Amino acid sequence: MVAPEPNERYRTALQALETREANFRLFTRSLAHDFNNLLGGILGHAGLIQLSAETNVEVQESAAVILKAAERARELVTQLLDSTRPDLGQFVTVNLHETIREVASLVRGIAPAAIRISFDFKAETAETVGDPGQLHHLILNLALNARDAMPEGGELTFETTSAMTPYPTIQILVRDTGTGIPDEIQSRIFEPSFTTKGGSRGSGMGLAIADRIVQHHGGRIQVESKVGHGSVFLVTLPLRQPAGMASAATA
Ligand SMILES: Nc1ncnc2c1ncn2[C@@H]1O[C@H](COP(=O)(O)OP(=O)(O)OP(=O)(O)O)[C@@H](O)[C@H]1O
Ligand SMILES: [Mg+2]
Repeated sequence: MVAPEPNERYRTALQALETREANFRLFTRSLAHDFNNLLGGILGHAGLIQLSAETNVEVQESAAVILKAAERARELVTQLLDSTRPDLGQFVTVNLHETIREVASLVRGIAPAAIRISFDFKAETAETVGDPGQLHHLILNLALNARDAMPEGGELTFETTSAMTPYPTIQILVRDTGTGIPDEIQSRIFEPSFTTKGGSRGSGMGLAIADRIVQHHGGRIQVESKVGHGSVFLVTLPLRQPAGMASAATA
């Protein structure tokens, strides 16, 4: 294998840093959302306790302390959400075939030449409603893992198919012919911070955040892999429903 040019090494390192930073930002943001929901429950119930304590001053005071602390916590969570906002946009129509092509051309620039990239788009339509930045990030994380699994080269394939399950969905398959994932760690790879990439090469956040993004978009992510043969990550996402169908479904 030919050693990468310094230029390529620089771009690869920069991409890894950018991906990692975006992962942490998205992860922080999604944790902050969870916190906000929990705080909503605490505030609501503490308020109820305060109201129903009637003449019990001690209980009223305790409830007031809880309310004050929870309100302060909510302010902090809001600050956290604000500080991570730039990357997060509104849900808009996203063409996933375009997203995949964008990711592929990015990865082409930072993967060894011995990795061949191909497409097999069988889905008739690839329009979903989602956050374009997050969806890009999701595919990028899967593609970078595929690249890392093929240091000596191989095939990276992006496939899509559509299905009715019973609503219209698209399945995106990111397939590699790399090292494969041992059975005993397959159940752990989506955990935050789980990595087999030693040193500072991996933070282990890639798949944890990919999982969160998929959940955020109402989909699911699965993996099939065989050591020595490669891996395929399957992402199923709801497709944008034509207006007529959406109203029929809710009628
Ligand atoms: N396509 C793949 N082929 C082989 N192993 C994989 C593949 N994708 C993920 N893994 C395994 O899952 C682990 C977790 O992946 P994840 O993307 O969460 O973190 P990472 O790639 O190690 O670090 P980071 O994404 O932060 O660079 C990896 O360390 C690797 O062991
Ligand atoms: Mg990764």
